[in-house]
Amino acid sequence: MKAALYDSHGPAAEVLRVEEVERPEPGPSEVRVKVAVSAVNPTDFKTRSGATPRPIDGFQIPHQDGAGVVDAVGDGVDPARIGQRVWLWLAAAGRQWGTAAEWTVVPERQAVPLPDGVSMELGASLGVPAMTAHRCLFAAGPLPGQTVLVAGGAGAVGHFAIQLARWAGAQVIATVSGPEKAELARQAGADHVVNYREPDAAGKIKAAAQRVDRVVEVALGANLGLDLALAHPDTVIVTYAAEPADPVLPVRACMTANVLLRFILLYGVPAAALDQAAADISAALADRALTELPSHRYPLSDIVSAHEACEAGPVGAGSDRNRRQNGRPARRAGRETVVALRHHVAHPAGPACRDGEALHDLGRGDAADPHVRLAPGADPAR
Ligand SMILES: NC(=O)c1ccc[n+]([C@@H]2O[C@H](COP(=O)([O-])OP(=O)(O)OC[C@H]3O[C@@H](n4cnc5c(N)ncnc54)[C@H](OP(=O)(O)O)[C@@H]3O)[C@@H](O)[C@H]2O)c1
Repeated sequence: MKAALYDSHGPAAEVLRVEEVERPEPGPSEVRVKVAVSAVNPTDFKTRSGATPRPIDGFQIPHQDGAGVVDAVGDGVDPARIGQRVWLWLAAAGRQWGTAAEWTVVPERQAVPLPDGVSMELGASLGVPAMTAHRCLFAAGPLPGQTVLVAGGAGAVGHFAIQLARWAGAQVIATVSGPEKAELARQAGADHVVNYREPDAAGKIKAAAQRVDRVVEVALGANLGLDLALAHPDTVIVTYAAEPADPVLPVRACMTANVLLRFILLYGVPAAALDQAAADISAALADRALTELPSHRYPLSDIVSAHEACEAGPVGAGSDRNRRQNGRPARRAGRETVVALRHHVAHPAGPACRDGEALHDLGRGDAADPHVRLAPGADPAR
């Protein structure tokens, strides 16, 4: 099968390549999945670059997240799962077989059925962002009637934090850095959106809610003052991202506010909590409470560009680095970049892939699927 892989850490252009490797077979309690969409998260490029290195067992196929169709099962797995559309989580955690390949193998609990009508793109967006959002929201207990502040509500984790909190019955206030992101947070379903860069953000949030019960925090050092201004003695501030420099903790102010600070790294979340997250996310999907992230599609053969785009920054950043990458013009980076695997498409040429256009869905598609598009100049053999 064709797979993107690396065997040492470093910049995308230096270490990532696409090669033929032997197609994996599912072991006991595993399923093999024909990948339709593979998604890039910050954790994928941080691991690949060596910023947060993980041991490499010969080679590493990157990407934790993806969606596809089960096409083989190992011992102990119900053969009725063959043909099931699934979304995947933590596919590459402690394993060689990330989703940036034609096939992957995962423990069967990490291949979660995708409800009818839910796109492969949405399925591929769930793993890291939605599972992280779930843990941030629910680790401290149920949410009905609570007020949740989502810092960075236009980010990938922020998007699903807004939607899962609303689904669970909370009121949601999101912070953003500008109007484009405000619109994204509103579309995600935030009840109130406040620009954290404008003066008196705390006052604007207090006008919507006197206090907040949970904070889903992406930048603790930058926002702790704001969070403490909104806290009460039962407030839980949950941090899931590390800023470039660790903040200095204002201990007296934290004591005075009587807040609980909590930290989350998905790789260490207990298995039962991950399974609960997958179950709740599936229930929210079935309720049509979750929507796709903005994304950009790349063929597997262009995985270097997909990683570079993701590293360049989130959607709406509007910077030149997002408009020009490595001298290539006008590829706005997605908050989560989707690598579309179109290797099986027979058409040698076709119109460029546009935003919002359906990707090849292996659950229903074939080489003649009219939704399938090749980018100009794309390798027809991939
Ligand atoms: N702990 C875990 O297990 C875990 C899981 C998932 C992700 N992460 C980490 O979390 C970070 C975000 O991941 P992501 O996929 O959600 O990235 P993303 O889609 O790029 O979103 C990041 C968001 O943070 C916002 N932001 C930055 N500084 C902010 C501030 N001071 N106040 C409020 N918002 C701010 C950004 O918006 P503006 O630029 O407009 O402010 C952006 O919308 C990454 O570092 C990732 O590695 C950790």
